[in-house]
This record gives sequence, structure tokens and C-alpha cells, in this order.
Amino acid sequence: MKVLSFGSLNIDLLFSVDHIALPGETISSDSFTRSAGGKGANQAAALAKAGLPVYMAGKTGKDGLFLLELLESYGVNTDSVIQYEGAAGQAIIQIDRNGQNSIVLFSGGNGEITIEEIKKTIAGFTGGDIIVLQNEIVHIDHIIKTAEKKGMRICFNPSPFNDKILTLPLDSVKWLFINEIEGAALTGLPPLSSPPAAIDRLTEIFPNTEIILTAGKDGAFYGCGKERFSCEIVKAPVIDTTGAGDTFIGFFLAAREKNMSVSQSLAAACKAAAIAVSRKGAMESIPLANEVFN
Ligand code: RIB
Repeated sequence: MKVLSFGSLNIDLLFSVDHIALPGETISSDSFTRSAGGKGANQAAALAKAGLPVYMAGKTGKDGLFLLELLESYGVNTDSVIQYEGAAGQAIIQIDRNGQNSIVLFSGGNGEITIEEIKKTIAGFTGGDIIVLQNEIVHIDHIIKTAEKKGMRICFNPSPFNDKILTLPLDSVKWLFINEIEGAALTGLPPLSSPPAAIDRLTEIFPNTEIILTAGKDGAFYGCGKERFSCEIVKAPVIDTTGAGDTFIGFFLAAREKNMSVSQSLAAACKAAAIAVSRKGAMESIPLANEVFN
């Protein structure tokens, strides 16, 4: 079994600020870091650090080559990442004094992936392999359809959310990882309705999909058919929440592939995310397997 993360590679430009800049306001930052990120790359790193055999596919510029070196140092195979003449994806991230963030994205290479490249990449995988997707690259609809034809198990994180998500063949998705805002957009329920209510509605809409909803301080919730599980958050000092959701996804999937129960997998994912928020950065804040599975 192989895991393919077909997704974004971003250079994260991190500014530590007192508060997120308001419209029309100019503020100074206390520190600036240029580091490795992108939901696709972060999820690939989390899956590999958690112990799965991971392949990354996507597109980046010369400026993004350090991302590939870092991914390879975690054991991720990056042969399917195409280098092109333009710039890598970029994310301008403000982190406030409470560790909360605000992100502006420039797609760069993430927006340049072609249908031909998708066909060629997925040809290297087989039925039963896992494909992990987010919403930071182009042609997600085509990738889902191609992966489904292959019999791959599809994991989708519809983030960042936009109206296009509602037109995707989400019935083919095996694992749907969402937060409360995404849950509200998919169900039509108000964002502040209870996570269990959102799970109930989503399991009706997608009866064959495992829904995993992360709800910040309220913990994480799982639903599939009539099955329900939940997990409380693991308390940790919040330094930077960037990449915590990606860490959660990687460790949940890895735990399930290691035959851990849904409850144990939620607990492992919550623990991994807690470690990630207690450290600065995205990809580099993700813990190793021995910090989580012990
Ligand atoms: O999920 C966190 C990621 O979102 C960051 O690394 C940033 O690149 C954005 O894509």
C-alpha cells in the first residue's frame, strides 16, 4: 500500500504579530521566518513522520526546492513533483500573540498542474492505495474521478473552502476531513450548531464516507453510517496553529492503517496536533511517530 499526497507546496512567510492586521492598518511584526508549508506538503510530511510510505505529487518552482529536500529528509518520495519555470506557491501568514493565524495564498505552481500530469502520476498507483487531497491545487474534480477509476481510497480535506467544492463528486470520498466552517458550508447548518448535529447531517448526505470533524477546543468528532466517536483536545501551550489540521489528518490516517481503532486514532491525531500547535511553523512543527505512538 502506498499513499499519494497530490497537493500544494508553499513557501510560508510567517510574521509574528500582536494582532492580525485590520483593514487599512499597518503593523510591525516581532519576527519573520521563511519556512516549508502548503497543505499537500504538510500532510505528506505528517503521513511520513507517522510511519506510512508516502509519495508527493505537485508542482513547484526553483524557489521551492528546499521543500523537496525537507520532505525527502522525512522519507517522502518526491519524484512526482514537477519543477517549472515560475514561482512556488506562497503563503503570507500572520500569527497573533494567541497563536491564531490569518493566511493569504498565491497559488504559483499549485495552479499550473495539467490534466496530462495528473494522468501520468496516478498511473503509478493501484487499487487500494490512498490518495490524499486538499483544495489548494487545480483540477481536483479530475483527480478524484481518475483516482476513483483506479480504485484508490480517497481522502479529501476541502480546505480552503469555496463554492467549487459543492460541485465535486464527494460521494467517491472515503475520508472527509472538515472543520466547523466547512461542515456548515456542506450541510447548510449554521456554523455554531453542534458538531454532532453536523456529523448526523453529513452522514445522511454521504452514507459511505467517514466524516472527521475537528472543532477546535471542542475536540474531534467521527461519524460513518450509524457509528459515532469523539475525542477531547489534548491541552498544550498554543504557539502557532499553522499546520495543526494537516498533522491531525496524517496521524489519523496512519493510525487507522496501523489497525488502531477509530477512538485510538482520534486520540493519536489529537495528541499529534497538540504537539504541532506548541511549536512554530507548519511542516517542521509536525511530531515524529515516537512522540505520538508511545
Ligand atoms: O494548513 C496550513 C497551510 O496552509 C500552511 O502551511 C500554508 O501554506 C497554507 O497552505
